[in-house]
Amino acid sequence: MISPSVVSPSSRIDEGRVSKLFVHSAAQQWSADVALDFSSPLTLTPEQRQIWAELGTVFYTMEKMGQHVLARMTLKASHQFRSEASLQYLTLQGADEGRHVYTIGRFLQRLGEPPRYDGKYHLLGQIASLGFYQIENWLFSTLFSENFASSFLRRAKGAEIDPLGSEMCRRLLIDESRHLHFLHIVLPEVMDHLSLLGRGYVKMSQYFIMKLTVSLSRHLASRAEKVGLNREELLDEVFSNVEKAYEGFGVSRHFLTFPTVRDSLT
Ligand SMILES: [Fe+2]
Ligand SMILES: [Fe+2]
Repeated sequence: MISPSVVSPSSRIDEGRVSKLFVHSAAQQWSADVALDFSSPLTLTPEQRQIWAELGTVFYTMEKMGQHVLARMTLKASHQFRSEASLQYLTLQGADEGRHVYTIGRFLQRLGEPPRYDGKYHLLGQIASLGFYQIENWLFSTLFSENFASSFLRRAKGAEIDPLGSEMCRRLLIDESRHLHFLHIVLPEVMDHLSLLGRGYVKMSQYFIMKLTVSLSRHLASRAEKVGLNREELLDEVFSNVEKAYEGFGVSRHFLTFPTVRDSLT
């Protein structure tokens, strides 16, 4: 039963759906130390261990960045939507992101790599959450980053990774799918209320985020390939899923401009 106290009748967001998602999310919470056996033997070769340490550091950085931005935006977004249900739900999403930072940190330690925030990705978080139309821009940026995380995790769990790493990816993926679910509830509403200028701003900002991702991921491509992850296929999948999502929000397929992924064409 959903408590009426978490629902704001004057909200322009579908409070009932967000409240249901909160209940669902609460039921799916988990603890890394209980769910994952970090003392299990490592079955990776030294080269695979090193590659997963590099990829894990990028993922750790992204999760940490997402955690900080989410913490800053939770109250702002809930106020803008006048949505108590969103406040309730987003605090739980914050717990998810905290768990992700912790879990990936433990995964890295197990590989002998101290968890660290890699500053060269910092600009991504800034484009995603500063400037104008902050809430809208953050939500659309999150649509991109959650899609990126989901495609990466889906591929990583089937790649040349050890059983603990694969199980970790599977669990993170379930959490990320709830985060995408929230965006699919609120973003059509956000898009409806966005002015022409706002749409132009979001479009430009999203282009820069995707362009930066294409460029920043380039130096990891050959390393990732060695554990069975193809950068171009991953980016193609992410862009295609983002495009489908925008279409679902009622904007034309050509609303977004996508950067070119392949090196030979750039
Ligand atoms: Fe996450
Ligand atoms: Fe997430």
